[in-house]
Amino acid sequence: MCGIAGYVGRRRAIEVVFDQLKRLEYRGYDSAGIAFVQENEIQVVKRAGKLSALTSVFGSDSPEVQMAIGHSRWATHGEPNDTNAHPHFDQHEQVAIIHNGIIENYQELKDSLVAEGHRFLSDTDTEVAAHLIGRAYTEGVPLEDAVRKTLARLRGAYALVVVSKREPGKIVVARNASPLVLGVGEGESFLASDIPALLPYTREVIALKDGHMAVLEENQVRIWDFDGTPTPLEIMHIDWDIEAAQKGGYEHFMLKEIHEQPEVVRQCLAGRLDEKNALRLDQVFNETVWNEVERVTLVACGTSYHAGLIGKYLFEQLLRLPTDVFYSSEFRYGDPVLSPRTLAVMISQSGETADTLAALKLCKERRIRTLGIVNVIGSSIARDCDRVLITQAGPEISVASTKAYTAQVLSLMLLVLHVAQVREMPGVHVGDVVRALQQFDGLLARTIETEPEIIKVAEEMQNAPLVFFLGRGIDAAVALEGALKMKEIAYLPTQECPAGEMKHGPLALIEKGVWAVVGSSDAKMRPKLVSNVREIQARGGRVVMIAPESDQTLDSVADVLIKTPSTPYEYLNALLTVPVLQLLAYHTARLRGEEIDQPRNLAKSVTVE
Ligand code: G6P
Repeated sequence: MCGIAGYVGRRRAIEVVFDQLKRLEYRGYDSAGIAFVQENEIQVVKRAGKLSALTSVFGSDSPEVQMAIGHSRWATHGEPNDTNAHPHFDQHEQVAIIHNGIIENYQELKDSLVAEGHRFLSDTDTEVAAHLIGRAYTEGVPLEDAVRKTLARLRGAYALVVVSKREPGKIVVARNASPLVLGVGEGESFLASDIPALLPYTREVIALKDGHMAVLEENQVRIWDFDGTPTPLEIMHIDWDIEAAQKGGYEHFMLKEIHEQPEVVRQCLAGRLDEKNALRLDQVFNETVWNEVERVTLVACGTSYHAGLIGKYLFEQLLRLPTDVFYSSEFRYGDPVLSPRTLAVMISQSGETADTLAALKLCKERRIRTLGIVNVIGSSIARDCDRVLITQAGPEISVASTKAYTAQVLSLMLLVLHVAQVREMPGVHVGDVVRALQQFDGLLARTIETEPEIIKVAEEMQNAPLVFFLGRGIDAAVALEGALKMKEIAYLPTQECPAGEMKHGPLALIEKGVWAVVGSSDAKMRPKLVSNVREIQARGGRVVMIAPESDQTLDSVADVLIKTPSTPYEYLNALLTVPVLQLLAYHTARLRGEEIDQPRNLAKSVTVE
């Protein structure tokens, strides 16, 4: 959840680390800190608040040191203040550490250290690890040995970064279920919790594996497992554009990422269609497996869960395969019914969400086949699933997910169409859908051109006491994502449900001033949907509808009608309504003066339960 950065080499280390943390600000932002060695002592500087509170301590004149580690925090143990911010010292200020994750047995470790006379300054679990490492770091022992010895006593999920005053050119890191990537440069080494922080400096990246630790020095990186067995470096070359990890002229990452969606469609389809309009998904299972699968279980959190709901629609409508969608946090404790013919599909943008990872672990224990639909190459879920379909959306920085959702839904469509091809599903004309998909980037770009109309709606809606998000069939699933976006960034109260459910309760909330946003992608559902809309209007609610331009029937029904391009497929039409919902939330938030890229109380990558 937090941002971690580190550097050793010949540049000014503090400046490099601040720059890295800036690129990771979306990961955590209630406090920040840095540690470096100067005149044989470790200096730790930390401040509550945003990163700027820390960087302003140094101004433009930071000490010239060649090694530094930094952290931006999103609190899990202890309130966000200067003391609880990382890095933390051990008892004698021999070592300083930063940590992302949770040490589950920290209380019992702390009690035994207190009994030995250790004094703790903070409420964090991290300080306990610092004290243990400091205690093991006795005369003559290299830092990595002290860290290794301590790791054997820690339970939980963590990425640990440790420096010492005795060995100032060395950073020791360890990873157990929290993300950590290393960057290999010429005469310099880097570390970070996420790849975008490395890209300005190096494209040679190592995703440290669970149960591994590393030593970074300016001229080398060495890796071992926790038992001390050396392991070879697996260096990946990352060819993401640096621009792609920056705002690129837009006011916010979220807006940039919404506008990137036509490009995301092209990237997501790239290399997956052949010249005869057949799908080629070499990275997923073979024909034998697809003919065996009897049930699909989709598991995810947040926006990825909403993509899963569309997945269910597609698996059931196109393949007639019974499909369940679970919140990861419910799945792992729900003793799910799984059989050897179940395929579990884990959907995750980051590939690091703790609950989804735990759900994956459960599936593996039950020996269920697993497929990941993941955006981040080299992430834990991408690595641990039997097979993985990378969504190819590029790095997503805004906390509120937009382009990753579109890429997830599109990937699910490709997957379902691929299976339809393998199983020769009657009635599913894969070639025809693929032809429509090849035009889809252009259609999405045309949808985004409705932005001026959407801004007008946002102007009227910005102070609404309540906004309903409604639809029927596939639009009911999309409505949930529209509502989540509005809540997350504009902080407007929303109510979302299938439109047909309104009369069973939610209709009681309709009064003058309340708005409803209603998607109408599916012509079959339209007559019934119109009745639902009339019921809202009759009680004083205002209704904005989103529908394909081929439809003429809603012109006299909606208070505001936003028309999107049309396709013959309701699931593609539904995906075309998504940018409208994203832009509506974005502009409402902007008009209300909210922060947008870093909404309050939320984080991009939730690596704690
Ligand atoms: C957080 C993010 C959401 C995201 C969810 C699942 O809550 O704020 O945008 O949908 O985690 O993340 P994942 O990386 O697993 O898709």
